[in-house]
Amino acid sequence: MTPAAETPAAETPIGKFSPAMIWIHWIVAALMIVTIVYGLVSGYATTSELTQSAMLVHQSVGTVIFILVFARVAARFMRPVPPLPPGMPQYQKVAAAITHVLLYAALVAFPITGYLSLASRGRAVSMFGLFDLPRMVPRSLSTAATATDLHVIAQWALYALIALHVVAALYHQFVVKDGVLMRMWPGRRP
Ligand code: HEM
Repeated sequence: MTPAAETPAAETPIGKFSPAMIWIHWIVAALMIVTIVYGLVSGYATTSELTQSAMLVHQSVGTVIFILVFARVAARFMRPVPPLPPGMPQYQKVAAAITHVLLYAALVAFPITGYLSLASRGRAVSMFGLFDLPRMVPRSLSTAATATDLHVIAQWALYALIALHVVAALYHQFVVKDGVLMRMWPGRRP
């Protein structure tokens, strides 16, 4: 009998993502928190100094996320994705795939609409006050307004997606106990 055949499905050891994928995942997760918090601080600040300094951090860290997404997609294609636990219901696999695609889309769409919101208003987009991103779009107040609306309104969809993603990971870790979270956890497989 093979070892897999002796082990119940919920305890079957499952693979891990590559170290590059794992580290980029958690770095992006941390940077997302920083970006969202500074975006909200900038929006709700009562002084223009605080608005501007929070926006500088927000736009800079948000742009770093945009760059990391390409590294993440490259890392994802360099090594096969470890299979999900055999006993996982099909609807959960489909829901996870849709959530992950939407999260990737958000990581690209937020920085682009954020950049358009500033650049098409004619504002310089500085990276940590060190240098400005090139201006790639003409000045257009209607583009700026649309991009800003998308950026601000889509935040609610993003929060819902993040909540779904986190709740699903915790459900698998603590209720189903099938090791799904461990696939994306740093360190050796337990
Ligand atoms: C993953 C990356 C990003 C996320 C998740 C994100 C999210 C957010 C959130 C939650 C807000 C607060 C909205 C509110 O006030 O209610 C915001 C505001 C803003 N963000 Fe981002 N953002 C990202 C990247 C960027 C980037 C790269 C830029 C610019 C280059 C940018 C430019 C802006 C601007 C200009 C606002 C203020 C919009 C306004 O009310 O006028 N964002 N963002």
